[in-house]
Amino acid sequence: MKKLRKASTSSRISGRAPSHSENTGPLETGPRFAVAIMAAGKGTRLKSQLPKVLHEVGGKPLLAHAITAAARVVPARDVYAIVGHEAERVRSALEHTGVQFVLQAEQRGTGQALMVAQEALGGYDHVIVLSGDAPLITAETIGRLRNFHLEERAAMTLLSADLEIPTGYGRIVRKNPRSSEVQAIVEEKSANAEQRKIREINSGFYVFAVKPLYANIGKLSTANPHGEFYLTDMAAVLRRAKQRVVAWKTANASEVLGAELAHIDQQMRLSKCRQLMEEGVTIFYPSTCVIDADVQVAPDTVIEPFVQLLGNTRIGTACRVRSYSVIRDSEIGDGVTIRPGCVMEEARVAAGAMIGPYSHLRTGSEIGEGAHVGNFVETKKIRLGKGSKANHLTYLGDAEIGAGVNIGAGTITCNYDGVNKHKTVIEDEVFIGSDSTLVAPVRVGKGAYVGAASCITEDVPAEALAIGRSRQIVKEGWAREKAAARKK
Ligand code: UD1
Repeated sequence: MKKLRKASTSSRISGRAPSHSENTGPLETGPRFAVAIMAAGKGTRLKSQLPKVLHEVGGKPLLAHAITAAARVVPARDVYAIVGHEAERVRSALEHTGVQFVLQAEQRGTGQALMVAQEALGGYDHVIVLSGDAPLITAETIGRLRNFHLEERAAMTLLSADLEIPTGYGRIVRKNPRSSEVQAIVEEKSANAEQRKIREINSGFYVFAVKPLYANIGKLSTANPHGEFYLTDMAAVLRRAKQRVVAWKTANASEVLGAELAHIDQQMRLSKCRQLMEEGVTIFYPSTCVIDADVQVAPDTVIEPFVQLLGNTRIGTACRVRSYSVIRDSEIGDGVTIRPGCVMEEARVAAGAMIGPYSHLRTGSEIGEGAHVGNFVETKKIRLGKGSKANHLTYLGDAEIGAGVNIGAGTITCNYDGVNKHKTVIEDEVFIGSDSTLVAPVRVGKGAYVGAASCITEDVPAEALAIGRSRQIVKEGWAREKAAARKK
């Protein structure tokens, strides 16, 4: 199993809730805050080519989760992702979030990450520092950390937690047990036996006042077992400069703890199901469903076991999504039934439609109100009008199909000539007989009929009947004569 950050098997919090104001959202007035998200590391522990921060949990890259939380505390333009390993790949995956990117070309430690961001962050009053590999952090916790930092008038505030097994984490050395003031953060590798017994750990989330940070960051050194600039050493550096360094112990250690990626993914998906159920959606056997963080489902919709709802999918009210359907980036109207085993990507289904079982709605499929798409029907870039039906074994691609149309079983739009794609137009109230092939570009006019097993290569006028097949030949007595010949 892939492991993210340092994992701890259990945790216990001795919550010493500080007094703080309850507004954890953006501050309307007052000092200017930026958020810097450290995301330049390679993540060797994952043994993967993919940059650590692009590994997905809950259907989104790790870094996207940190960005979502950060952008609830400050506007996205004030969020700076510090990228390095595979920087371009990370940037292009997350550009759409509207955050800014700072390049840390060589990764020489968390302290150096903030050194390279000096130009970007120099104009702010305070900077909140997060880790791109910590997706469980919430906007509320970040907001509380910020509020505590302001109330304490600190130069550096760090988020800590008590763990029963603190191995691997930096330890907090407090000035005295009851003080919020911190003497130093000691990394596991540099800690002596006494310090290793400390159970209060550094989560890797901080708030710095920008002026003292950059006035003193040059004092960091690489004289440590990793030969890196540790951001954690800023605690001792700022103390020596007579600045105030404090810690706020979170009451929710699970937000800062490391865990296996699969475990985090499972937690996120279960909490997504819980959120939807609280909002009035029924989900049977939620532990079998995979629902991405940004999916929206309206109340009174029922989701059966083993359903995947992915990406930006939106589902209306009073729908039923039956088992084994996988729906990505699609929009489903109200009262739609999706029978078992359907696959949809970038499709739109209007109210009251009936899909499946086993339908494949590919990109650009627009299924009209009350329309039916049935067994083993594949659609791509089509409009199927109100109340139209394509119930069995059909391929409809690059087609404009009107209202009240019946597409017989086994119909195929031949949209591809080996080089180009062409369009089929089927107007309202048309009846296409079973096993027909419509060779595009072709148009079937309003109310026309196409006889079963026709190959239609020319336009069919409105209200006409087109038959494009060879005439049936009947040879009377043929079988009898053949049988008699065999007996001889
Ligand atoms: C860090 C803390 C440790 C804390 C732990 C919590 C330091 C020195 N130690 O250790 O006290 O208990 O987090 O998980 O900070 N990164 C960069 N550029 C770099 C190096 C790292 O952007 O040059 C990023 C990484 O991509 C990662 C984050 O910073 O997202 C943390 O770095 P990592 O090396 O994993 O720190 P830890 O060893 O976990």
